[in-house]
Order: sequence, then C-alpha cells, then structure tokens
Amino acid sequence: MRDTILVTGGAGFIGSNFILSWIRERSSPVVNLDLLTYAGNPANLALLEGNRLYRLAVGDIRDARRLAALLREVQPRAILHLAAESHVDRSIAFPELFIRTNVMGTEILLDEARRYWAELGAAEKAAFRFLHVSTDEVYGPLAPGGRPFAEGAAYAPANPYAASKAAADHLVRAYHRTWGLPVLITNSSNNFGPYQFPEKLIPLMTLNALEGRPLPVYGDGLQSRDWLFVEDHCAALRAVLENGRVGETYHIGGQSERRNFDVVRAICELLDEMSPDPALGPRRRLISFVEDRPGHDRRYALDATKIARELGWHPGEDFDGGLRKTVRWYLDHPAWLEGVRTGAYLDWIRLNYTERGAR
Ligand code: NAD
Ligand code: TYD
Repeated sequence: MRDTILVTGGAGFIGSNFILSWIRERSSPVVNLDLLTYAGNPANLALLEGNRLYRLAVGDIRDARRLAALLREVQPRAILHLAAESHVDRSIAFPELFIRTNVMGTEILLDEARRYWAELGAAEKAAFRFLHVSTDEVYGPLAPGGRPFAEGAAYAPANPYAASKAAADHLVRAYHRTWGLPVLITNSSNNFGPYQFPEKLIPLMTLNALEGRPLPVYGDGLQSRDWLFVEDHCAALRAVLENGRVGETYHIGGQSERRNFDVVRAICELLDEMSPDPALGPRRRLISFVEDRPGHDRRYALDATKIARELGWHPGEDFDGGLRKTVRWYLDHPAWLEGVRTGAYLDWIRLNYTERGAR
C-alpha cells in the first residue's frame, strides 16, 4: 500500500486547510475527492498547483462505482471524510439535500470503504483508518451554565444539518460495530480562519463590515459558540489519525466561548484598526438585529479533555489572535473573495437576508 490518504470534501474550508497543512507537515500524498459544489473551491488549493503530492479527483461521494474505482486505483491507507453540506441556514432552506449528502453520502462512502478494506492484506488492513469529521451540533443546545459536552453525551440535534451529521455519526459507529471497520470520529466546535466561504458568521461579517453593509445579527445576538482556529483543528485531525484509538470519538474544542454579538463587535474593531474608513465611522454602527434563525441553538461548547490527555493536543491559538489572523487574511486576499462571490453566492444572500425582517 502506498502512503496516500484520501480526503473527501478537500476543496471546502476545513478540507483545504487540512490538505495544505498535511502536505506541509507530512510531505506525503493526498487525493482529494470533491464534487465542487458552491462550497468547493479549487482556488483554495492554488498553492499546490504543480505539486506532485496533490491530486484533485472531481466526483460525488454518492457515486458508488466512482468510489470503488478510485479506491482500487489510489489504494489509500486512510480516508478522511469531510465532504458535507455544512451550513445550518441552508439546511433550513433545503433539508433534503442535507440528508442526501450527509446521510446517504456517508453511508455509500462507508460501504465502499468497507469493501475496499475487507480485501486488503493483513498488515494494510490493521493500519487502515476511516476518520469521520463531525460537529458539536449533534448534541443540540447546551444549557447556560452547563458543563461542556464530553464524549458519550446524548445526541439531541435540533436543526436539519445537525440531525444529518448525527445520523452520519451513528452510521460510522454502526460500521465499526457490525463489520469492524477501523473508524475514528471527531466532533469539533465552530471553526474559523482562511478560506471560509462568506456565508458563515465570521467571514460574512468581515466582508460586510469591510464594505460598509449591514451586519445581520440573528435574534438578540446572545447565542454563544466555542471558536476553534482551523489550523488547530487540522493539527488535531493529524493527531487523531495517527494516534487515536480505533472506534473512539474525540472532541476538538477551542476553549474560546464567545457570544455572537461580541464576535461581530470584535470584527468591527479589528477592521476599524486595520482598514479605517473615516466616511464610515466606527463599524459597530452597522450592526443590525434581524429575525432569528428558527430553532436557533443558544449555546455549544465541547470538553476537549480526552484529546489533551490521550494525544497531547491543545489549541495553539486563542480567539483574539486567531481572529486577527483571519481578518488580516481576508484583507490580503481580495481576489479570492471576488472569485467566491459568484451568482450562487449572491442568490443565497438574497434568499437568506432580503426576506428576513428586522427584529
Ligand atoms: P464546506 O461546506 O466548506 O466544504 C464542504 C466540501 O464538501 C466542499 O468542498 C464541497 O464541494 C464538498 N462536497 C459537498 N457535497 C459533496 C459530495 N456529494 N461529494 C463530494 N464532495 C462534496 O465545509 P467545512 O466547513 O469545510 O466542513 C467540513 C466538514 O467538517 C463537514 O463535514 C462539517 O460538517 C464538519 N465541521 C465543520 C465545522 C465548521 O465550523 N465549519 C465544525 C465542525 C465540523
Ligand atoms: P454559523 O457561522 O452559521 O455557524 P453555526 O450555525 O454552525 O454555529 O453561525 C454562527 C452563529 O452566528 C450562529 O449562532 C448564528 C449566528 N449568525 C448570525 O447571527 N448572523 C448571520 O448572518 C449568520 C450567518 C450567523
């Protein structure tokens, strides 16, 4: 077996950061299976153009024949499964798509992985890993003052995205229990950093604030999320892949809980400092409270003690440092931003925000 790993969804936000850091840190080959939906952007991997360690295979995780052929050809020693529909608001607009991709897609991928794995020789079979990348949202909202969720907490997903990821996690565990597929599961908190599509909170607010457009805070803005810098997530995924115990789940949390309103205000202050615009004045004036997301979870947070204890992983970046780097990255990459603001992006902004009333 060669040293190659297969990453699904590697042209998205976390996947592209993972592939860039994997090749930088490990210098070993990656094949990226990605359907290039609106969220998949080959420009995220432009730095690897001409690099013989990287290959993009455009394709769908729901295409069993394609998967079988690719696995036979690539002979990966591991699969890192990131491909998904990932945006909660879109899951409220188009729930079925989330079931098709996140549930059906994961099942089809697991089934082909199982067939491939079953035919490997003994040593390769023992070394093979299927790492499924999931989210804290599977646990539903955490009570105010409640202790962050530890591995083994009961699943209580509260929106179609979270429910689809929960179903996928259950399927991954089922393939381990039923067929012995050597799986690993990670649940991480909200990521932020370079290459995030500007539909999610931090890049959306950065872009709007930069351009003097309203900053649409849902509801009262007092919902809180635990923020994880994407580079730290990538380091954790490497640690779990290499040293995680088969069949186990690891939580990857940033230990940086922040209320949405405070995140948006921090972005405004950073942009006022890094890209002052006297005509605009302080950008916090752009904050506008809009109709809440239906079923909006008030709080998410994860207990990451297990991964620290077993694998020695800790987040390296605190929220303020990570946010500064992130805002700087968006300021320094106007061409990337122009490239992602295509028709599909503008259609989504119209659909999600123009019909949403003021609060
Ligand atoms: P993303 O939306 O930026 O990227 C998803 C990628 O999957 C895109 O490149 C897209 O083209 C690809 N894809 C979608 N459907 C596909 C299909 N049928 N076949 C092949 N490729 C397909 O998502 P992200 O934010 O990078 O998240 C990656 C993974 O991490 C997801 O599984 C998500 O649930 C999980 N996760 C994300 C976060 C976060 O804060 N972003 C937090 C925890 C977990
Ligand atoms: P998001 O980035 O969509 O991630 P998730 O829903 O997976 O946590 O949203 C983060 C938080 O920001 C969430 O509480 C919803 C809120 N939010 C807004 O207030 N306004 C917005 O325009 C967006 C996109 C999100």
